[in-house]
Amino acid sequence: MRKTTVIKGKWTTRTGFILAAIGSAIGLGSIWRFPYIVYENGGGAFLIPYFFALFVIGIPMMIMEVGVGSTTGSTAPLAVKKLVKKGEFLGWWASINAFIILTYYIVILGWTFSYFGYSFTMAWGGRPDLFFGHFLNGYYPLIATLVAWAINYIIVCAGVENGLERMNKFFVPALWAIVIMMIIGCLRLDGAYYGLIWYLKPDFSSLLSPKIWISAFGQVFFSLSLVIGTMITYASYQPKNSDVAKNSSVIAFVSGLFSFVVGFAIFSALGQMSVVSGIPISNLIQEGTTLAFITFPAVLNIMPVSILFSMLFFLILIFAGLTSSVSLLETATGPIIEKFNISRKKTVSVLTIVGCLISLPFALDAGNIELIDKIVSTYGLPLLGFAEVIVFGWIYGADKLRTYINSVSDFKIGRSWTWLIKIFIPIVLGYVILGDILKRPVLAIVITIVLLIVLAFINARRSV
Ligand code: PHE
Repeated sequence: MRKTTVIKGKWTTRTGFILAAIGSAIGLGSIWRFPYIVYENGGGAFLIPYFFALFVIGIPMMIMEVGVGSTTGSTAPLAVKKLVKKGEFLGWWASINAFIILTYYIVILGWTFSYFGYSFTMAWGGRPDLFFGHFLNGYYPLIATLVAWAINYIIVCAGVENGLERMNKFFVPALWAIVIMMIIGCLRLDGAYYGLIWYLKPDFSSLLSPKIWISAFGQVFFSLSLVIGTMITYASYQPKNSDVAKNSSVIAFVSGLFSFVVGFAIFSALGQMSVVSGIPISNLIQEGTTLAFITFPAVLNIMPVSILFSMLFFLILIFAGLTSSVSLLETATGPIIEKFNISRKKTVSVLTIVGCLISLPFALDAGNIELIDKIVSTYGLPLLGFAEVIVFGWIYGADKLRTYINSVSDFKIGRSWTWLIKIFIPIVLGYVILGDILKRPVLAIVITIVLLIVLAFINARRSV
């Protein structure tokens, strides 16, 4: 019998890849999560750790992941295996993590579909909090979740070129266009000034709190789609010898900037709300995660042309959420197609059915979302990130990777990149993970440094 090989997906153009990667990165994390993390960390104080994390962790790790994807031409599990024989499980662990994130991410995406519908009549009325509670107790979240799964199914089934690339070519420019319209509208509000001061004015004293740094690192991982194999998988669909350093820096920078820019619209509007209601900004939001579904509808009520603003706000959440959810589904799909040579349609069908079942408890009880998000994002991502820099940086070798990256890139990365990947990022992540478990930050740093010294020692003996 003739054995057929399932053809791997490919981007048709360089821009196709860059837009898809930006589409994956910009997501609910940038619009729904970023403002509430800024909010929880006291406003302007958060921006310094955020940009620091973007430059010293986000960009270098993006370069590493895109480098791994392009040098191996394989999705995450096989890519790790090609570089480090026994490392395949790490790639699967990442892909499974992506799939689990997808199962609750898609539920929130479903809420945004419903709320887009509600925005035509501003159905939440004067009490968005009661409305949201009511909404969660009804059947709509369930139906919306199934619709969101169906849309993801159709796009990922259509393949890399016809599904993912086509969609991102339209959605990513649209995202920027909508956010610019929102900013222009929001900056004209009377209270915008107060909101912006709260957002932008740095508070250096809070930089001493470790929590603010941990939140910034977690946010950068989540919102750049790092660590769970997405960027490796997307990069593997490029032609051989594609540029790494420049493309990755553009992807990370443009996506990181997007969150910052969205903040201008959100905080101007919160400033207006504060002026109208007389409540200080720091007391406006009771619970972070509800910002998009309770606080913002309340803000939208007092905006001029409020129906238009409501539609734009939920539309931008839908566009951003969809381009990310399809990338999560692709992160789970790509490796199965590659390893087991199963057709795309079969793979996506099975994943969709299993995913729908896992999403059910989240759609029926939103309380479960926070719990799972803590496990797989707050703890899972730093842990995977740590394993990743050890495997690529130490066991395979950051220098080998750097040689490859420089051989294909327009601009060259220096030795400092190797230092960041091998020393700085593992120490920071070791501190974040162990510091939280042991509750002793100094001990956490000491243990991480000892671990690195042991690794350096093993490495030195291996290369003798
Ligand atoms: N980056 C996406 C967001 O900010 C979420 C995501 C994480 C997507 C990891 C893919 C991989 O919403």
